Amino acid sequence: MKSLEKLVRNGVLSINAWPTGKPIEELQAELGLESLALMATNENPLGPSPKAVEAIKAESVKVNRYPQGPCTYLKRKVAARLGVQEQMIIFSNGADNCLRIIGYAFLNTGDEVIVAHPTFPVYGIVSRTMGAVPVEVPLKDHTHDLKAMAERIGPRTKLIFVCNPNNPTGTIVRKKELHAFVEALPDHVVLILDEAYFEFVDDREYPNSLDYIREGRNVVALRTFSKLYGIAGLRIGYALARPELSAVMERVREPFPVSRVAEAAALAALDDEEFKSQVLANNEQSRRFLYESFDKLGLPYAQTHTNFMFVDLKTDAREVAQALLERGYLVRPGTPWKHPTYARITFGTMEENRGFVAALAGVLGQ
Ligand SMILES: Cc1ncc(COP(=O)(O)O)c(C=O)c1O
Repeated sequence: MKSLEKLVRNGVLSINAWPTGKPIEELQAELGLESLALMATNENPLGPSPKAVEAIKAESVKVNRYPQGPCTYLKRKVAARLGVQEQMIIFSNGADNCLRIIGYAFLNTGDEVIVAHPTFPVYGIVSRTMGAVPVEVPLKDHTHDLKAMAERIGPRTKLIFVCNPNNPTGTIVRKKELHAFVEALPDHVVLILDEAYFEFVDDREYPNSLDYIREGRNVVALRTFSKLYGIAGLRIGYALARPELSAVMERVREPFPVSRVAEAAALAALDDEEFKSQVLANNEQSRRFLYESFDKLGLPYAQTHTNFMFVDLKTDAREVAQALLERGYLVRPGTPWKHPTYARITFGTMEENRGFVAALAGVLGQ
């Protein structure tokens, strides 16, 4: 350990490596399961967009060529859809990779980064990697406490992450509170609005981050093709920011962050209206069903605006998760978020949701 401290960057040894389980197929074979419902990683249970699959096949014969680094075709299309300038968008190898780019572009050693707790763990990892210091502010009622976060802003604050909707709780901050927060931000701070799940939000008071970006504020929004479009395995996401900020991010991105196949799939998926409608309909049906089921089981949960829910199982969630796994349902216990009785449940197909609820009731002895 001592010798490692001399070798590696400050802060790196304070990072816990990302927990990776066994390959799903091996896990399933080991447990002798006929099927395993993947309800732990907020993926799309309906598969990839079929139009994306066609595009992947067509593009596959061109992979001897490097991709076009900035994703010009996709940039044009997304810019036109969103009504923003092309220079405001930067594509990357998943929104995760955008978070790295943000770290490289903005963080100096000793900078402070305000993050909620619990939230998406990559914000803390990126901050520590750059030698910056995460300042954690607990959620209030499972939601970002923007007032308390504003109170923690000081001369060393550089970034603030607001995951909207929040992972793992699924909650949102609304227009009015976000507006007051943005108005009060000092010039030396950049606000990152992580909107990985924004397509699932159906709430009139959900803020439009693009308004702030068009106004030239120090706001960066993050989005992904991993959720609604079902191409998490291809890794493609993007950041939106005023041109000066995105130009800074362009300087530190990898030369070819997005594969040809991923760009082609994203271009096709954007036009797959039928698939998008099916995904959103399944999501809404799942949400209603799980709300109803958790109510019947007497389990409290946070109101969600995403494709997952954070539910209090009122007992050791790791044990419940293990028992559910043995019955063919993979869910994420809240232990890493220091919520040991909670679990994050990704919505499945309705068949998976029904099977999951029956299995959960059995495990809980109800
Ligand atoms: C809040 C949040 N941000 C970013 C990501 C990363 O998305 P991507 O798959 O585009 O890297 C996720 C993935 O689950 C997420 O939950």
